[in-house]
Amino acid sequence: MRFFAVFGNPIKHSISPRLHNLALERMGLDGFYTRVLLEDGNSLVSKFKSLKLSGANITIPHKEIALNQCDVVEENALKIGSINTIVLKNDQIYGYNTDAPGFIRSIEKFGSIKTAIVLGAGGTAKAIAYALKNSGASVTILNRSKLRLENFGEFKNFSWDTFIGGEFQLVANTTPVGLNDDSLPAPIEILEPLLKRAKFAFDVIYNRPTPFLNMAILNGAICKNGSDMLLHQAVLALNLFYSNSLDEKTIENHMREAFSL
Ligand SMILES: NC(=O)c1ccc[n+]([C@@H]2O[C@H](COP(=O)([O-])OP(=O)(O)OC[C@H]3O[C@@H](n4cnc5c(N)ncnc54)[C@H](OP(=O)(O)O)[C@@H]3O)[C@@H](O)[C@H]2O)c1
Repeated sequence: MRFFAVFGNPIKHSISPRLHNLALERMGLDGFYTRVLLEDGNSLVSKFKSLKLSGANITIPHKEIALNQCDVVEENALKIGSINTIVLKNDQIYGYNTDAPGFIRSIEKFGSIKTAIVLGAGGTAKAIAYALKNSGASVTILNRSKLRLENFGEFKNFSWDTFIGGEFQLVANTTPVGLNDDSLPAPIEILEPLLKRAKFAFDVIYNRPTPFLNMAILNGAICKNGSDMLLHQAVLALNLFYSNSLDEKTIENHMREAFSL
């Protein structure tokens, strides 16, 4: 049997085990997927090896620190600077980022995006910003504080106190704000004008209707939460665990079923 896990802190909210285990079972694959609370991101690979895992996902807040522990990193993940999937092959750890293609698949119904503003400057913001840029959008980053903006030198980037406003087709929240609280990912005087002018809004949060998406709906934006991004990044990760030998549509159907359980 092969064993897989998702590492993060916090981790108890993760529904990845539910998605992966139903797909594994329905597809007759001899595997099991669990969740592991990881406090020290530097110990990711040693923990992975001591648990004798074949593959894993990495979530908040370890996606960037995980990249440095891989033996081989896929080109897109290197450009993004963060990984969410590792696979053991020939005693080497391979790192991938399936958040970026997962996000793009999840917003297919929005059509082609020309301008976007990404709220947040963490690992998920990197994946989403690069995914949007690679698909032809002009991307601006807006973060609460300045420090992490250093990682976004090739994008227009602002902290709340330097932001000058603007009009963007898509407003994408990549912060964890709204996961367990009722606050907004940026001050209301910044956010409301953005949402009034936006055509689309996306939120990485998927466990509940967030104040951000509620405000976007009130302002007439077409909205999407993070559930399809989670689904598609998981489909791609499971396929990587099995050397891309599985049928993605079949995995997707089983994982969609798992969502509704
Ligand atoms: N749906 C999906 O498939 C999916 C995939 C990946 C991640 N996610 C979710 O995405 C979220 C972010 O993950 P991450 O790994 O990118 O986290 P991260 O690297 O820790 O980055 C968090 C970002 O959020 C900002 N932030 C945190 N608290 C804030 C607050 N109260 N107000 C305003 N900004 C705040 C931080 O700003 P500062 O720099 O100022 O601290 C930082 O830019 C998590 O909730 C994760 O579960 C969902």
